This record gives sequence, structure tokens and C-alpha cells, in this order.
Amino acid sequence: MSDKNSENAKLTINNEDLRYSVDKGSIGPDVIDISKLYSDTGKFTYDPGFTSTASCKSTITYIDGEEGVLLYRGYPIEQLAEKGNYLETCYLLLNGELPNQSEYNEFDEIITNHTMVHEQLNRFFTGFRPDAHPMAIMCGVVGALSAFYHDSTDVNDPEQRKIACFRLIAKMPTLAAMAYKHSLGQPTIYPQNNLSYASNFLNMCFGVPTEDKDVNETLSKAMDKILILHADHEQNASTSTVRLAGSSGANPFACIASGIACLWGPAHGGANEACLRMLDEIGSVKNIPEFINKAKDKNDPFRLMGFGHRVYKNYDPRAKVMQKTCHELLDHLGLKNDPKLAIAMELEKIALEDDYFVEKKLYPNVDFYSGIVMKAMGFPMEMFTVLFSVGRTAGWVSQWDEMVEDKSQRIGRPRQLYVGNPGRDYQDIKQR
Ligand code: ACO
Repeated sequence: MSDKNSENAKLTINNEDLRYSVDKGSIGPDVIDISKLYSDTGKFTYDPGFTSTASCKSTITYIDGEEGVLLYRGYPIEQLAEKGNYLETCYLLLNGELPNQSEYNEFDEIITNHTMVHEQLNRFFTGFRPDAHPMAIMCGVVGALSAFYHDSTDVNDPEQRKIACFRLIAKMPTLAAMAYKHSLGQPTIYPQNNLSYASNFLNMCFGVPTEDKDVNETLSKAMDKILILHADHEQNASTSTVRLAGSSGANPFACIASGIACLWGPAHGGANEACLRMLDEIGSVKNIPEFINKAKDKNDPFRLMGFGHRVYKNYDPRAKVMQKTCHELLDHLGLKNDPKLAIAMELEKIALEDDYFVEKKLYPNVDFYSGIVMKAMGFPMEMFTVLFSVGRTAGWVSQWDEMVEDKSQRIGRPRQLYVGNPGRDYQDIKQR
């Protein structure tokens, strides 16, 4: 795959020419291998936000931001969302290939049999205030898994790593549902082995012990799609956080907790919550021009949530699938005339025609429609990012495992351009 030395990049510093190899991927931009730059020149590169820096080699996910393409292990996201299911996607991300029927059955059974969490974890939840943000709870309890599952924290043992990945994929929905139930003051609903992954999650969130209610199949399908669409997105902020945490040899549960913390931010996974709050704030279709103007005003920090993406300079392919799912679900639930959907559709139309958004290539991202879908399912806004974290767990664990396996992997340790005081002497407090 990598075709080293077929091309060189020349860098001239102080009249000295240095040559660095250009590595080729299977598709996508080539990379200039500058790992020897510091030892050769005593200089670092400067790239805040890593806009031009590849931090690793990976075989898992590919994005072409200009064309709006997203592939998991080579498969287009649209095909996986249309024809596959989330567990199959997890298997694909973890193993590199789609499972055959017997592999799928075995994987399904393993995940299903890992969905329960240690009963003592329940006590963690009672320690949180009922109004705690569920992402705050998730940061805590997912990290705490490392205190319960000691037999899968040795990162040097491939078998233990595999079990940790299974446990995380299996237990995330259980913990997410427990966080939700805690906020409602309702008893925890235990996982049900006869239900699919998505239906089991919905049942744990919306079931009550006093009633035996079937999970709505349309809702379950929509949930499965949300999970597939969010399963991985190459080296995004939370995945890079997981890799960086893991690069020190930290255990997988702690690493995924760090990914959850990063995902929480409104510029990342928190955008779906922020997007729905924004639609609330806009309030009516007639107010849209005012908010478009605010988003364009350089002196106003307001941004159109659910618009723009570091990598996509075209329509986010996940947003297209989500838009379709959104219409189907609202139709099914008789919510076709939902005022938020009306605002969202008009906002999208106006923004897509506006010069500012066109020139800056700001298109709707997956969060633009996912919030409306999750709200229609009955989730409160605070749960949106939690749902994202459930789906993204498959990507996090796959990327973490790939990193640990990578022989060239070293502890992640960026450098800096120091612009602080060059050195001074301590002064007694009376002289300051
Ligand atoms: N509304 C208005 N203007 C925007 C928006 C927006 N949503 N997004 C970017 N811009 C403008 C910026 O002001 C900037 O303008 P300038 O060049 O005149 O200064 C230009 O577009 C480039 O923006 P950057 O912030 O430099 O782009 P970056 O790649 O760093 O940010 C990000 C990407 C964080 C997603 C940004 O577009 C944003 O804040 N969007 C809203 C939040 C959001 O929807 N996040 C979800 C991301 S998807 C996900 O995590 C699943």
C-alpha cells in the first residue's frame, strides 16, 4: 500500500536541501514523512488543529471531504446504512471484513452476553445528582469500568484487548440507558437478550418494569441507522483523543472515557444538542434571515450549528441518510408538520443558496438532522451526545486496537512553539 521513495519532497532551509519521502495511501492525499525533520534541522512543524497533519496510518475509515465520501473498510456509508446493521458494522470496523452468517451469529451472541454491567456500578449512578448531564455521568462510569474488569486491561494481550472491545460495545448502551433512567428517577431496566442491539437500547431507555411493551420497529431501525452513521469518522477529535490516551499504554476503558469527554464539546458531538437549541432559539421560519446574518457577522460569535465540517467541503454523506431517516420517522410518528423540521428545512435551503455558506463550502453535517430524529424518538436533548458516544464506541475501540497493534506506534507527544518569557529570576514577593 505504501510506496515509499517513489516520490520525494524537497525542503530548503538556510540554503540546505533536505529530501523527505512521500508515502502513498490506497486513496486520498499522500503524506510527506517529516518524522526526521527535528533531528535533521532542529525545527518543528507548526499546524494548530492538525489541519495538514496525518497522525497515523490507518486501514479503517476513509473520507473524501471534497466529494462527500465516507467509507468504512472500503464500504460506502450509504450502503451500510441502507443494507447492513450496526452489529455487522462493528464487526467490520473491528475485523476489517463483513462477517458471514456464522461469524455474525457468534459476534451477536458475544455482544449480547456482555451487555450486563457489574451490579455495583449501579451505586455510581446514585452518587450523581439527578440533574447531572448524562455525558458527565458517562465520563465517570465508563472510566470506572477499568475498576471492574481487571481481566481485560492488559493492553499487551490481544485476547484481553478483544474482550475489552466487546465489553465496551456491549455495555455502552446499558450505561447510557442507566444514565437516562437516573435523570428520570426511574429504575434501571436490565438488558434483554432476545432483543436486537438497537431495540434492547430503546427498551432500556423507554421501558418501565410495570409494563411489557414491544419496541417500535421503525424507531429501532432509525436508532440502528444513527449508530451506523456515527460508528467511525477516521481521526476526528475524540478518536484522536482515544489514540493519544492509548499511546501511553492506558487501559481501554480509561481511553474511551477520554474520548467521551472530548466528544461532549459543542464543536464535536455536542453539536446535535446545540443544533436543536438553535432551532428552538430561531423559533419561527420568519426569523431565519436574522440568524443567517448573525452567523455571517464576524463580530458575532454565533455559528449555524449543524453546518460546516473540518473535512467535508461538500454535503456530509451521513446528513443525507439522516435527512431521509428523519422524514421517514416523522411520517411514521405523524409528526410531519413538526415546526422544528420546517425551520430546519428552510434554514438548510436558505443557507445552501447563501454566498457566504457557498463560498466557505459550509454544508449541513450529520448533526443537523440527527437531533430532530432523536427528539422525535423521545430523547431529551441532553441524551443526544450520549447516543453519539454509543455509536462511536465501535470506531474508538477499533482505532485504539489498530494503534496498539501498530509497530511504529510511540507515545503521542506533540511539540510546541514557545512564545513565553525566555527566562528570568525568581523575586521575593515583597519586591514584585
Ligand atoms: N456558521 C457560520 N460560519 C461558519 C460555520 C458555521 N457553522 N462554520 C465555519 N464557519 C466559518 C468560520 O467563521 C470561518 O470563517 P473565516 O474563514 O471568515 O474566519 C470559516 O467558516 C472556517 O471555519 P473554521 O472554524 O476555521 O473551520 P473548522 O474546520 O476549524 O471548524 C467546525 C469546523 C468546528 C465543525 C465548524 O464548522 C463549526 O463550528 N460548525 C458548527 C458546529 C458543528 O456543527 N459541529 C459538528 C461537526 S460534525 C461532528 O462532530 C459530527
